Amino acid sequence: MSKPLRVLSGIQPSGKLTLGNYIGAMKNFVELQKDYECFFMIVDLHAITVPQEPAALREQTESVAALFIAAGIDPAQAAVFVQSHVPQHAELGWIMTTLSYMGELERMTQFKDKSEGKDAVGAGLFVYPSLMAADILLYQANLVPVGDDQKQHLELTRDLAGRFNFKFGETLTVPEPYIPKVGARIMSLDDASKKMSKSNPNAGSFIALLDSPDDIRKKISRAKTDLGREIVFDPKEKPEISNLMTIYSNCAGISLEEVQARYEGQGYGAFKKDLAEQVVATLEPLQQRYREIRESGEIHEILRAGAEKARAVAEVTTRQVKEAMGFLLPSSKR
Ligand code: TYM
Repeated sequence: MSKPLRVLSGIQPSGKLTLGNYIGAMKNFVELQKDYECFFMIVDLHAITVPQEPAALREQTESVAALFIAAGIDPAQAAVFVQSHVPQHAELGWIMTTLSYMGELERMTQFKDKSEGKDAVGAGLFVYPSLMAADILLYQANLVPVGDDQKQHLELTRDLAGRFNFKFGETLTVPEPYIPKVGARIMSLDDASKKMSKSNPNAGSFIALLDSPDDIRKKISRAKTDLGREIVFDPKEKPEISNLMTIYSNCAGISLEEVQARYEGQGYGAFKKDLAEQVVATLEPLQQRYREIRESGEIHEILRAGAEKARAVAEVTTRQVKEAMGFLLPSSKR
């Protein structure tokens, strides 16, 4: 039997996770775990590229881990772990930083967005994509499920893997992004020209995975709509309603065409009401499981076992990388 293909992805433990994170990434983690050897992590080393309050970082890390499991990731199938529990991320991250060019890092749109208008920009924010490349390459991942906003970082990762292999011999797997066809970019509920984001100061602009059913209903009933009243998918002419249809399609598990057909002749009011119920029906069971997992305390053992599994792979790749580059490896005890 040939080796199963590997999947790796990560989510930052900053702020609240949104429906965008769920549809763009997490939902696919759950799908992929059946057919691939999966590694899913909470990227705390990435989170500290912007200031974090220690107690909040700790709480968010545990919370995101519990959300992974609540969303349906099975720790018996996939390794769920915290990035900083596997020290090789920082080690290979440094190595990837030394292989990255200033120019290519300067071109990263996420860096431009996050640093815009700031007087002091941390160096960590600048080399963030080199660490992300290390995350992926450490596991020799074939597929990386992410939303559209990570596409450019994936391109850089592919370039770095190719550069390494060219300079030091075939060592690293060049990964492919795995981006959903519908839902790769869930937009803000108050402005469909902006990505739905946990860092938006207007809480009405995003649905957090732990929002109460009432809050979800309120947020959707207030979501911006376009002129007219038809439910048609047309991101150019009707960006707001197209975004809501994308959310519907993902939560109900039906195609955009089916959503359109289902609401033919009906107005925004009826559609939004049903959409709210679809989102509540998707998130309520997840929230229930989340509470159970947090109460049981089982997450600590899940993360311990996940890190052990991850470390075993990460150690092998790091050794191969260092050997290829000419590092003098420490001799093992006889
Ligand atoms: P992060 O934490 O910002 O987001 C986690 C995942 O959610 C996706 N996402 C969205 N998808 C659709 N619509 C949205 N509005 C939306 N908002 C977020 C993101 O594309 C992402 O897949 N750099 C990464 C974390 C990371 C990583 C990695 C990912 C670190 N190392 C290695 C993959 C592999 C990030 O900041 O994601």
